[in-house]
Amino acid sequence: MMSLGVGWGGILASLGGIGAGALRFMVPSVLYEPPTIFKIGRPEVYGVGVDTKLKKERQIWVVRNERGIYVLVSICRHLGCTPNWFGDQKLFRCPCHGSIYDTRGNVVGGPAPRTLWRAAISIDPVDGQIIVDFSTRQDPDPKGTEEGLMVEEMSREVEPYFLKV
Ligand code: FES
Repeated sequence: MMSLGVGWGGILASLGGIGAGALRFMVPSVLYEPPTIFKIGRPEVYGVGVDTKLKKERQIWVVRNERGIYVLVSICRHLGCTPNWFGDQKLFRCPCHGSIYDTRGNVVGGPAPRTLWRAAISIDPVDGQIIVDFSTRQDPDPKGTEEGLMVEEMSREVEPYFLKV
């Protein structure tokens, strides 16, 4: 009698295992990526200079100069590490192999072969917030100069990569 009870218990346990396996099969694992289009608040939130508050959450820096706003993608163009902003030097420095970028994203040192990407931005007509399209990126050909790999700034300050606000 005792062994019969254990037997049923084993069968039920096996069925439970099969059921869990079938459920896992029917509900596959899904990796949820963060959205590539997102809002970052109204332009007046951002003062002149480099705003780093969205680097960790969104992989961007928001930069305002005397003419408007642009968004730099905080991914090093060498091998993809995350550079750090040094406000006292006004430079981004990559901790991996030493690439250095200025506030415009130009390469002023190290092995990076391209300037930092700029993400497409626009203003939401309803709430006035800046919309960032992280996957649409400006990637001009930098020219080699004595200062580094540079792109003529006015050629970068064009829609949809620059907001005159
Ligand atoms: S990944 Fe930035 S310098 Fe190599």
